[in-house]
Amino acid sequence: MNEPRGVRHPFWQAVLLLIGSYLLFKFGISVLPPLIGIESAPVPASVVLQFMATALVGVLLYVSADETRWKQFKEPIHSVAVDADKKVLRTSMLIALPLLVGFLTYRQVSASVGAPPSLRSVHPAPPNRITFRGESMQLAGLENPLRTTGEMSEHLAAGSTVYVRNCMPCHGDRLDGDGHFAQGFNPVPADFTSNGTIAQLTESYVFWRIAKGGPGLPKEGTPWNSAMPAWEDILEENEIWAVILYMYDQTGWSPRTWEEEHEAAEGGDH
Ligand code: HEC
Repeated sequence: MNEPRGVRHPFWQAVLLLIGSYLLFKFGISVLPPLIGIESAPVPASVVLQFMATALVGVLLYVSADETRWKQFKEPIHSVAVDADKKVLRTSMLIALPLLVGFLTYRQVSASVGAPPSLRSVHPAPPNRITFRGESMQLAGLENPLRTTGEMSEHLAAGSTVYVRNCMPCHGDRLDGDGHFAQGFNPVPADFTSNGTIAQLTESYVFWRIAKGGPGLPKEGTPWNSAMPAWEDILEENEIWAVILYMYDQTGWSPRTWEEEHEAAEGGDH
């Protein structure tokens, strides 16, 4: 009988097929399509494992389909297991295989020291009352008092001064959250021009966020390292109301009103 040698040998054919399948599953699926302009995504390890199991079954079916091929396939395995001149190879395999399995198992179950994923609620429910500079303040139903007193143009000018002095480095001169320091923070400073921030909020909510900043966020707003400072010790109450007027005036948004808040709560889509 003509003994197959080298890569013609069924054993090495099987090995090559399995290596080829692995490379195809691992890289072929995610790397080749983009080369011809088709979108693709990385293949999860669990999927590669499933594909490999299928490939292994296929390869075993192939080598065992033919009696002589099956015999030839088993030869090298049998020879390593029993032949006297393969003692060194046999012993090293007997040591290496359990070590490999042990290592892989260890890697699977060993605890990782990565940071926990930070799930957060971007707009956690505000407290009902806050203490502002030692005085208790009811947030629910609270309106911006400057809307009904004094001259709007003066309030806006005051708000602009407060904004430029205190908020601009982070929230940006266009109020789009792109100030000079913005990229240094995670989460990045809020973009007031987007419809996801002050456009959705009542003025009392915005007041609370400015007064208490990142440190004042409740538990569901954490863990996150908000760089938003608490301004209550730096800005007077009316300075905060003025900067709020300025933020809505500049972005063109209208604050959410308490009636809307009420309806939304009753409609259940809160
Ligand atoms: C040191 C950088 C920094 C400065 C200065 C700063 N902020 Fe912020 N601000 C942030 C960051 C970061 C966030 C996003 C995280 C958060 O909501 O706490 C934020 C969020 C906010 C929010 C919440 C928006 C929302 O959708 O909930 C408001 C309102 C706000 N800032 C207003 C101001 C005002 C007004 C000033 C100036 C008086 C100011 N900020 C100054 C960093 C800053």
